[in-house]
Amino acid sequence: MRIPMIAGNWKMNTTVSEAIKLVNEMCPELDKINNIDKVICPPFISLVPVSELIKGSSIKLGAQNLYFEEKGAYTGEISPPMLADLCELVIIGHSERRHYFGETGEMVSKKVLAALGAGLKPILCIGERLDDYEAGRTEEVVTEQLSSSLAGIAHPDGLVIAYEPVWAIGTGRAATGEQANETIGLIRRSTAKLYSDEITRDLRILYGGSVTADNIAEFIQQPEIDGALVGGASLKAAEFLSIVRQTSEIRQVR
Ligand code: PGA
Repeated sequence: MRIPMIAGNWKMNTTVSEAIKLVNEMCPELDKINNIDKVICPPFISLVPVSELIKGSSIKLGAQNLYFEEKGAYTGEISPPMLADLCELVIIGHSERRHYFGETGEMVSKKVLAALGAGLKPILCIGERLDDYEAGRTEEVVTEQLSSSLAGIAHPDGLVIAYEPVWAIGTGRAATGEQANETIGLIRRSTAKLYSDEITRDLRILYGGSVTADNIAEFIQQPEIDGALVGGASLKAAEFLSIVRQTSEIRQVR
């Protein structure tokens, strides 16, 4: 049984007061939409006020990153236990972190392990770059990212995977529903080699990359796609609501 999920990745956008405004604009309506997991991932500094605002609602809170150590002399970092107090989910291994901040597969796997250890549900991001896509190396790249990111993780309870082709992120050039479905099917089959059939069957895999209210239906209609990780469009209350509403209508629990 896979409940669809739409997660909004706000990235490095919104001051605290802008985050509060956005939550006040969209969350009362968001709260009313059923049969779907609705997640918002504001910047770290807004997690506390946003968690207060959505307390008691059906909206889930996610962070955009974490560090894998529990505490100590790691200036500027945020640890899993700090987040576990506030959030249910955490985005890990986003391509922007891999490319701008040099996150390797090994770091990503340590982060996934640390998140799970703290009771957080990781949204693990994988996806190929444009040159790999054009050279037909998508399968090779995503299976490698998957196995390195999940190395040493025996029980991926609550794990969510987001397939985000790097060439589709923030570019307005989304994959087609069929392309995304095919790669997500492949990811699901690859996880079957790592975990039991039961875990694989229940694993939610999202598509991400230029998702909008205009194209969400194309993805959600595909059998392998369980939802979306939404960047730019998650910063617009009406558009994010429309994405969540359409997903809930098209895709009841399966
Ligand atoms: P985008 O970003 O929707 O703005 O393309 C998606 C993501 O990076 O998660």
